[in-house]
Amino acid sequence: MEHDVGERRDELLAGLCGRVIEIGAGNGMNFRHYPATTDEVVAIEPEAYLRHLAEHAARHAPVRVSVRGGLAEALPLKDGEFDAAVASLVLCSVAEQSPALAELRRVLKPGGELRFFEHVRAEAPRRARVQGALDRFGAWPFLAGGCHCSRETVGAIEAAGFEIERLRRFELGPSWVLTNPIVLGVARARA
Ligand SMILES: C[S@@+](CC[C@H](N)C(=O)[O-])C[C@H]1O[C@@H](n2cnc3c(N)ncnc32)[C@H](O)[C@@H]1O
Repeated sequence: MEHDVGERRDELLAGLCGRVIEIGAGNGMNFRHYPATTDEVVAIEPEAYLRHLAEHAARHAPVRVSVRGGLAEALPLKDGEFDAAVASLVLCSVAEQSPALAELRRVLKPGGELRFFEHVRAEAPRRARVQGALDRFGAWPFLAGGCHCSRETVGAIEAAGFEIERLRRFELGPSWVLTNPIVLGVARARA
């Protein structure tokens, strides 16, 4: 079991280079964890209040960050603009994963990398059934602001045309928490 979310954010972003797109940036929690090798981060956040907080965080970030409105499913960006993309605790919240992942693939250069840090459906059948039922009946999305706890995000990433290069699966905090397990890794857009 692991505890430190800040350390996981460092791990997520370590070694990133060039132009990076981050979807669902929230209040900009990741910004201070970007390494100095990053040229620029374009952070997309649909919710106005969170975007306001993210703009504040951007001013204190160690790298250049610009914050924009928009949805992951319809990114206001050109094809092939980015070297890397970051999805951090957001593929649980988008209405549908496949259009959001297709958009990430579109804005990445061929061979660009996707860094992901997401909670996913448990492997243990009984626990997965509980997660599935909570999502199906809308209880978890209602309680957790649109979040889903039973998504098979790694499979969705592969189905969208990415190849998993690195993947670590672990629990963050107590294992009974329904937002466990976590997957943290790197996938590469197939050329
Ligand atoms: C749990 S927060 C995670 C925030 C941040 N990425 C982090 O790691 O702390 C989920 C974020 O996804 C955003 N979000 C929800 N639906 C979205 C969508 N369709 N496109 C982009 N962002 C979305 C929410 O507004 C929220 O900021």
